Amino acid sequence: MAILVPGGAGYIGSHTVVELLNKGKEVVIIDNFSNSKPEVLDKIKKITGKDFKFYEMDYKDREKLEKVFEENEIEAVMNFAGYKAVGESVQKPIDYYMNNITGCLVVLDVMKKYNVKKFIFSSSATVYGEPERIPLTEDCKTGGTTNPYGTTKLFIEQILKDLYASDNTWDICILRYFNPVGAHESGLIGEEPQGIPNNLMPYIVRVANGTLKELLVFGNDYNTHDGTGVRDYIHVVDLAKGHISALEKLEKEQKGLFIYNLGTGTGYSVLDMVNAFEKSTGKAVPYKIASRRAGDIATCYADPKKAKEELGWSAEKTLDDMCRDSWHYIENSL
Ligand code: UD1
Repeated sequence: MAILVPGGAGYIGSHTVVELLNKGKEVVIIDNFSNSKPEVLDKIKKITGKDFKFYEMDYKDREKLEKVFEENEIEAVMNFAGYKAVGESVQKPIDYYMNNITGCLVVLDVMKKYNVKKFIFSSSATVYGEPERIPLTEDCKTGGTTNPYGTTKLFIEQILKDLYASDNTWDICILRYFNPVGAHESGLIGEEPQGIPNNLMPYIVRVANGTLKELLVFGNDYNTHDGTGVRDYIHVVDLAKGHISALEKLEKEQKGLFIYNLGTGTGYSVLDMVNAFEKSTGKAVPYKIASRRAGDIATCYADPKKAKEELGWSAEKTLDDMCRDSWHYIENSL
């Protein structure tokens, strides 16, 4: 029985495939390399010493997807094929709704046809909108997303809840990621945003290596310990392991739809991140204070207790690990 991983060559997908293979799972990846590179597949093999099946295709292509289900015995699907750039989603809402929502619907419909009913979904803390309270627990209100990317996550969560309500033989796990950073410790796989990055850590590493001149810190007048925005940064390998724990729960437990925050429970500010990065790598990160970025909130971090209690999972890597591994990957990929 294999785990089907659409988007398995991408940032979070590739790290999760590594953990799946390390656990001895059989893996089938589908990817169209729209935001990833074919070399990643070889690197996954190099890290794990294991092989997997791969189909180069768009996960929205129903005919080809059905063929994948015909040719393999799929046990569960972990879907990492969503687009994720917030700014781009504002410019190209149709692309985002089409790829993220239509794609997910095609996968679910084909799963239903082949009676495969275990699904793990990559959601985001963005579904909480302006946080009802901090730390965020899974029962906090959702909604009020400020961009199409975030809205696709919110809508897919609703689709999954409706699906489960219609047929409770599905096993569904919704994982709400906080801020994934870092890279595999081998330095072979990591995050490779196209163009100028929007997210903080990819920006910091490019300032540190001289590709970008300086970091713009978006606002220092928030109600936080140093005025800059506070987030819950989580190492991508910890995040990947969270998916393994979720899969294990779906494999052994009663039917259900489960929602978990995947975060560390600790918030760090933008300046905390700059300082930690400089300390852990010895590289300078020049920065300048700029005005607030539209749609940003002051503080966002998880209460990770539910995942610990019900999945037996908690983040283990430190902020130092996150900075060192992000830097190691960039150094290695030059
Ligand atoms: C963003 C998205 C969120 C998505 C997540 C993926 C928005 C509003 N939210 O979260 O939907 O799930 O990425 O990781 O875009 N910062 C700077 N300078 C920079 C970049 C960022 O000061 O050049 C600050 C931001 O203001 C924020 C913090 O760094 O306080 C983190 O920003 P970012 O990495 O973009 O993540 P989020 O905004 O939390």
